[in-house]
Amino acid sequence: MLILGLESSCDETGVALIDNEKGLLAHAVHTQIDMHRLYGGVVPELASRDHIRRVIPLIEQVLEEAGKKKEDLDAIAVTQGPGLAGALLVGVSVAHALAFALDIPVIGIHHMEGHLLANLLADPAPTFPFIALLVSGGHTQIMKVNCFGDYELLGDTLDDAVGEAFDKTAQLLGMCYPGGPAVSALAEKGTSGAIDLPRPMIHSPNLDMSFSGLKTAVLTAVKNAENPDDETFRANLARAFVDAVVDVLAAKVVKAMKQEKMKTLVVAGGVSANKQLRNRLVYEMRKRGMQVFFPPIKLCTDNGAMIATAGLERIKHMSDEDINRHFKNLKFG
Ligand code: KG4
Ligand code: ZN
Repeated sequence: MLILGLESSCDETGVALIDNEKGLLAHAVHTQIDMHRLYGGVVPELASRDHIRRVIPLIEQVLEEAGKKKEDLDAIAVTQGPGLAGALLVGVSVAHALAFALDIPVIGIHHMEGHLLANLLADPAPTFPFIALLVSGGHTQIMKVNCFGDYELLGDTLDDAVGEAFDKTAQLLGMCYPGGPAVSALAEKGTSGAIDLPRPMIHSPNLDMSFSGLKTAVLTAVKNAENPDDETFRANLARAFVDAVVDVLAAKVVKAMKQEKMKTLVVAGGVSANKQLRNRLVYEMRKRGMQVFFPPIKLCTDNGAMIATAGLERIKHMSDEDINRHFKNLKFG
């Protein structure tokens, strides 16, 4: 069974092919970062137009790489939201047009479920149940994942997402969009403790989080600095920001693991590529005899492979009745 995955919720056009027996056959991502960088963030209209330009050539590219024809497809999985409306419409429209022409079903996937299930492409992959930390440009959530499709929200950010805080901090430090990797690299040159920043809600009795106050603290530190362009100051401030974020996320996931009596943590979303967060969570979990899983680095940020994987899992969990209804010509195995 062959599934095409399409992702176009923001500034990456992601396309992938997954086979139920052979796994991921091919995937390709076109990133629009260079285009949006000129404006300091994603321009929705430009994003939509670029998805239109890229999506068909990328589909042709992955089919060719996998040695497949479009007629070999059994289903199309596509990001249905959340994301930029115009950008999502491109993927969804292409998915429906292609599915109509080929007489195959379309499976709508929640973007964050895609991020979460990208972990199934890691080797070794996690097994259910587990606690999930979802950290991206739009989300910061802690979930209890009992099994596929059974997701319980335990904690959420009350304001900014952690990726957004990285991007705004990068801007304040005079760095380009997207800021996560740049802040992380600059933090490596800084000294922990040289600048003190708050750890919002770290001791709150629940699993909710907040990052807007931290962003304001970075702004205040920049405004009060004698020389905000000084390299040591910038590196120390980046380090202080990363340390604060990592402290809060580590404290909250440890609390969630204890509360739910779980032994496995799964991290997902663009910020799961962050080196300091990865190192800290590995340390915290190892210390407690717990395990932590991350997606392969290339599949942390938006991509089509995570959507194709989520689509395949959805089909695997369908009832026989639903399979017969949706898949007239399905060939399993
Ligand atoms: O998951 P993603 O590609 O898109 C959304 O669903 O939002 O995440 C993008 C976010 C951006 O805010 C970006 O700055 C952040 O992930 N990010 C990172 C790193 N790589 C990407 N943040 C910290 N460290 C990184 N290495
Ligand atoms: Zn994403």
